[in-house]
Amino acid sequence: MTARRTGSPDGPGTDTVGGRTARQLLRLCDVAGLDSADADLYARTLTDMLGGVAARPLDLPPVTPTFLSDDHTPVEFSLAFVPGAAPTLRVLLEPGCGAGGLARSGRAGLRTVREAAGRWGVPTDRLDELEDLFFPAEPEGPLALWCALELLPGGVPRVKVYLNPAASGQRRAADTVREALRRLGHRQAFDALPPSDRHLFFALDLGDWEEPRVKVYLAHHDLTAAQAGALSRTGDDLGAAQTEAFFRVAAGQDDAPGVGHDDVAGAVDGPRPVRRPVQSCHAFTETATGLPSGFTLYVPVRDHVRHDGEALARAVALLDRQGLDSAPLERALAAVTSRRPEDGVGLIAYLALAHQRGRPPRVTTYISSEAYQVRPPAGLLPAVAANAG
Ligand code: TRP
Repeated sequence: MTARRTGSPDGPGTDTVGGRTARQLLRLCDVAGLDSADADLYARTLTDMLGGVAARPLDLPPVTPTFLSDDHTPVEFSLAFVPGAAPTLRVLLEPGCGAGGLARSGRAGLRTVREAAGRWGVPTDRLDELEDLFFPAEPEGPLALWCALELLPGGVPRVKVYLNPAASGQRRAADTVREALRRLGHRQAFDALPPSDRHLFFALDLGDWEEPRVKVYLAHHDLTAAQAGALSRTGDDLGAAQTEAFFRVAAGQDDAPGVGHDDVAGAVDGPRPVRRPVQSCHAFTETATGLPSGFTLYVPVRDHVRHDGEALARAVALLDRQGLDSAPLERALAAVTSRRPEDGVGLIAYLALAHQRGRPPRVTTYISSEAYQVRPPAGLLPAVAANAG
């Protein structure tokens, strides 16, 4: 790499991956009601965990393409909404992304997570038990390790780690998931999962969770709303009807106001890109029943809208239905970008509805950084992100 180093992170043309995403995070912390001490700490944590990539100027292409986001920014934000409280801000990042290749990035990611967890007093033993399964010498697949932080007041986040079931090949993914569940004591969990097209992620909560979860993410292509509603295996019909209704609104198969028709995704950029699958996530917290205690449905809303104005309208409609205040979402979008929602698509990446036994349903909105690029709305040519500062 040549001379262009960080320079002033605020100077035009010298903005960096770490500078841009840290400023977005600072503003989002304000939306989520975190004080400035916590915000500063979390912004530094983000830059630290990104490692060398943080200093990379945004006018150079991403070091390696990442599956974490559409434009290859190694960071994605989300806001989780529950009744009666400010939304929780989370940040998903790829800690080893500059290391070059999956094997190295997996090792760098593990090291980064262990170091950070050590600082927070968070044990990583559950992750350590799975290392050989998810970090083979020659890994395959779309990722090695991602880490998500739930940014709680007080400066110590809750930590989630996402691993790749296909690390030893897609054909071994199911066995890898079964074995990982078994090692963590969830012997019956694998057989409780619904049929799917692919095992996408295996995730672990680390640290100070009331009920740490082990989560299995599955991909489902070409689902109908009724099929989506029938995916949950929690055994008590936890919100099946709500999940079905959620799917209809998020995917635009509903006549609610502000909701468009479900025929637009592919129209974006001429020949239709293949639509991303809907994802399900089953969360296991206890080993007695073998049943999952949580179920989440993720709809890649960006594949079902012409522009983020529509995605926002759907998110607002879904939050309204659950009696949740959508004002923080609008503020959050303004915190990450100065573009209008109508001027691109993909800022809102996913909408999710989560049911966890004993808790109120939660709506989560996934918000892209768009540090590198904004995908244009239907029919326009790609543009580089406006300097969103
Ligand atoms: N970018 C990937 C995707 O779109 C992975 C991903 C990032 C994802 N954030 C997510 C998947 C939130 C589900 C929910 O699939």
